[in-house]
Amino acid sequence: MKENGKTKSARDTFTGSFGYVMATAASAVGLGNIWRFPYLAAKYGGGIFLIIYLVLVVTFGHAMLMSETALGRMTRKSAVGAFQSFGSNLPLRFGGWINAIVPMLIAPYYCFIGGWIVKYLYEYLAGNTASLAENNYFTSFITTFSSTEICFIVFTALTFLIVLMGVGNGVEKASKILMPLLVLLAIVIAVYSMTRPGAMEGVRYFFIPNFRKLSLMTLVAAMGQMFFSLSIAMGILYTYGSYLKKDGDIVKTSRLVETFDSGVSILAGLMIIPAIFAFLGGSEENIRSGPSLMFITIPKILESMGLGQIPGIIFFFMVLFAALTSSISLMESGVSTFMDQAGWSRSRSCVVMGIIMLLLGTACALGYDAWSSVQPLGMSILDFFDFLTNSIMMPLAALFTCVLIIKYAGIRSVVEEIRISSPFKGEKTYIVTIKYLAPIILIIILISSVAATFG
Ligand code: PHE
Repeated sequence: MKENGKTKSARDTFTGSFGYVMATAASAVGLGNIWRFPYLAAKYGGGIFLIIYLVLVVTFGHAMLMSETALGRMTRKSAVGAFQSFGSNLPLRFGGWINAIVPMLIAPYYCFIGGWIVKYLYEYLAGNTASLAENNYFTSFITTFSSTEICFIVFTALTFLIVLMGVGNGVEKASKILMPLLVLLAIVIAVYSMTRPGAMEGVRYFFIPNFRKLSLMTLVAAMGQMFFSLSIAMGILYTYGSYLKKDGDIVKTSRLVETFDSGVSILAGLMIIPAIFAFLGGSEENIRSGPSLMFITIPKILESMGLGQIPGIIFFFMVLFAALTSSISLMESGVSTFMDQAGWSRSRSCVVMGIIMLLLGTACALGYDAWSSVQPLGMSILDFFDFLTNSIMMPLAALFTCVLIIKYAGIRSVVEEIRISSPFKGEKTYIVTIKYLAPIILIIILISSVAATFG
C-alpha cells in the first residue's frame, strides 16, 4: 500500500526489503490462513491436503511469487500496465485485466466474511461467551440477513476509510506488533486445543497423509488455496514488486513470505482441526463443515478454557486486524487499477470499488437468507464467487503470467531481473517450473474445475 496518496510518475519505493516483506506478509496473512485453510484441509483429506499444499507452495508458489515481483519491478507497473509494457494485443490485454479483476471479485466476499469476525468480536465484548459456543449459533446468525449485512457494512466501511484516507502505512506499522502477537496467541490456542481429550486423532488426521483420499479435487482446492493465501495470481505482487528497489533480494524475500504464511496456516490448522475431534466428534459431517468450521470450533475451545470473554476478545481482535490488512490490500489493488487505467482520482476510485463491494457482498449475505434458492452452479453465492476466482480465474491469471514470461518478456530477462539482487541458485528449476510444469498443472486444474462444474 505504498502508493497511498502518491503520484504515479514519481513511483515510491519500499525503504528496504524489510518493508516489502512486511507489506507482502501483511497482505498474505489473513482470513485465508485462519479461516479458509483449516476448513479446506479438513474437508479435503487432512494430511494429504497439507502435503500437496506445501509442495505446491515451495515449487510453483515460489516461482509465481518471484515472477510477479520481478515483472512488477522490471516494468515499474501494476498488472495491467506490466502486461501492456510488452505490447497491446489481445492475450496481453486479457492477461493484465484478469489479474486486475480477481481482487475486485474477492474483496466483496472477503469483507462479508470479515463481517463475521466483527460479529464475534462484538459478542465477546458483550460477554456472550457461552451462547457463541452453542451448536446452532453460527447457523442462526448466518441465515439472518439483517445481522450479517450490518457486520459486513461495518467491516467494509473500516476498509473503505483506511484506503480512502491512505493510512495503510499506519496499519502496516501496527501490524508489525499485532502479527507476532497473533502468532503467539495462535500457538497457545493450538497447544491447548491439541491437548484436549480426543484431539490427538485430529492431529493425526492433519499430519498423516492418507493417499486413498487423494483426488483431483484435492489438488484443485490446494492450488486455489495457494493462490488465495499467498496473494498471487491477482495482480497484487506486480504492484508490490513495482515498489521494490533493485537491491531487494527477490529470492530470499519470497521464501520468507512463503514460510511465514504457511507457518500461520499450519498453526491455524492445529488450533481448529484437533478441536473438531475433541469438541464436536470426528464425524464426516463435522469434518466437512466448510466455511463455518472456524466459527463453530474456536468459540468451543475458548469457552472450555473457562477464562470468560477475555481470550475471545483478544483472539477476534487480532484476527480482525489480520483480515483488515488483507482487505485493504485487496481494495487498494482495485483502486490503483482504476486510478492507473481510467485516470480517476483516489476518492472516485474508492467510491466505485466501494459500490462493487457493497453490491456483491450484499448478494453473498442474501445468499444465506432470502436468496438461498439462488444456487449458481449448485453453490451458495459466496461459494460461487470463491470457486469462480480461486479455481477458474486465478489459474487463468497465473497461466497468462507464464505466457507473458515465456512469449513476451523472455524467461532470460526475468531471470536476469531476479539475479540483479540475488545469487539465484534455483535458476534451472525455476525455468522448468515456469516453462513446463506450471502451464501443464494449470491446464489440468482448469480442465478439472470446468469438468467438475459442468460434468
Ligand atoms: N492472502 C490473503 C489471505 O490469506 C487474502 C488476500 C488475497 C489479500 C489477495 C490480498 C490480496 O487472507
